[in-house]
Amino acid sequence: MLKTVWRRLRSNRSRTILSSLAAYEHWANQYPPHAHNAVMKAEEATMRALFPPLSGKKVLDLACGSGRYGLIASAQGAAFSIGLDNSVPMLRQNPMELRAVSTSEKLPLASSSIDVVLCGLALGHLRELDASMSEISRVMKPNACALVSDFHPFIFLNGQQRTFTTTDGQTFAVEHYVHLYADYHQAGRKAGLRIDAVLEPRLGQLQEVQFADADTRTGTPIIIAYRFVKDV
Ligand SMILES: C[S@@+](CC[C@H](N)C(=O)[O-])C[C@H]1O[C@@H](n2cnc3c(N)ncnc32)[C@H](O)[C@@H]1O
Repeated sequence: MLKTVWRRLRSNRSRTILSSLAAYEHWANQYPPHAHNAVMKAEEATMRALFPPLSGKKVLDLACGSGRYGLIASAQGAAFSIGLDNSVPMLRQNPMELRAVSTSEKLPLASSSIDVVLCGLALGHLRELDASMSEISRVMKPNACALVSDFHPFIFLNGQQRTFTTTDGQTFAVEHYVHLYADYHQAGRKAGLRIDAVLEPRLGQLQEVQFADADTRTGTPIIIAYRFVKDV
């Protein structure tokens, strides 16, 4: 499984790079609301390791796509979970009760209304983090937390890309911007958020991701996940 995933991440600079909106328009019909490849499984295990108790909490699944984290939050007893995403085709795949079209840069939610923000594998699609981090912070209650995951910068600095293959066999890359730990730290600080935990699972460390290609060293971090808190 990982070999397939890794092939999808590999560099091929002749590939057309689609904007996030264009990519998910083509990809949505193959994007079920659960972790459906080895990298997503590793990412989800990492996010779950950072979860606070979700029972009774007001949860925002930001850039929810087909609703993976919102559904997990509901299954864990959240008071409600709302999903926001800027891709209509992704939201059509999303069975969450509460969902709406929205960019992460301007959220249609009241200030200080959310206990937990879950944002999986999305902020890497954004050229800059400040506007989204500022909105995440605005909607968080005091003492709330935000969990944000991204592909690890090492993957992209080694020349790999995020890719997907359409049902008619065309492979595209998807726009992705490298944000280092320092970038997330600084965008968080500007927005009034502090990183209180960070995890960087490596190839070979997690049960879900144990088979590397010959040219992918065991020990390479593949995902980075942050927990931001809003101090009062
Ligand atoms: C890799 S998918 C992840 C979906 C979901 N978070 C998950 O982990 O299963 C990235 C999602 O981010 C959404 N996205 C990208 N840029 C966005 C933006 N500026 N505002 C809101 N959603 C965005 C895409 O439409 C897509 O659904």
